[in-house]
Amino acid sequence: MEIVAMAAAHVPQVAALETQCFSAPWSQASLASELDNPLALWLVAMDGGQVAGYVGAQSVLGEADMMNLAVAQAYRRQGIGQALVKELVKRLSAGDVHCLSLEVRSSNQAAQALYAKLGFFQAGRRPGYYRHPTEDALILRLEWRS
Ligand SMILES: CC(C)(COP(=O)(O)OP(=O)(O)OC[C@H]1O[C@@H](n2cnc3c(N)ncnc32)[C@H](O)[C@@H]1OP(=O)(O)O)[C@@H](O)C(=O)NCCC(=O)NCCS
Repeated sequence: MEIVAMAAAHVPQVAALETQCFSAPWSQASLASELDNPLALWLVAMDGGQVAGYVGAQSVLGEADMMNLAVAQAYRRQGIGQALVKELVKRLSAGDVHCLSLEVRSSNQAAQALYAKLGFFQAGRRPGYYRHPTEDALILRLEWRS
């Protein structure tokens, strides 16, 4: 498994995974526009030519927000999600970024367990943030220097 920066060739597979994993998926066009966004960093975990998972973030003034993280069903519980977030943090911290925040559905135990394992803490809660179905978001945050 190799983790590399997302390129145009990966976008259709990432968009397909978005549709499989989320009720409000990013479109292929939105994902493609991230390739030209200087604030964005998207990584893909590759199994040969197959996108096994991906993570994306945008950074402004030293603070990054995770846009999404997903691993294809067949590749779950193999450490890929964890490896993607670790690689994201490594690359962000090599620049001037010092923290990473994200929203997660309050019912999403799998993702919350992953983030807890990596040291994220709960920084807040947004009532009714998600739609389809409506649900609170937990705001999680990881800081690696002050
Ligand atoms: C959440 C998700 C990205 C995890 O990816 P993954 O590659 O399976 O995760 P990993 O194998 O790296 O798991 C790392 C740790 O997270 C926790 N974890 C992951 N999946 C879990 C599950 N289904 N139940 C409980 N804990 C889980 C475990 O502590 C795990 O370590 P362990 O396997 O040694 O016990 C994946 O389930 C997914 O794509 N879900 C749908 C999309 C999603 O919810 N994205 C997050 C949006 S905020």
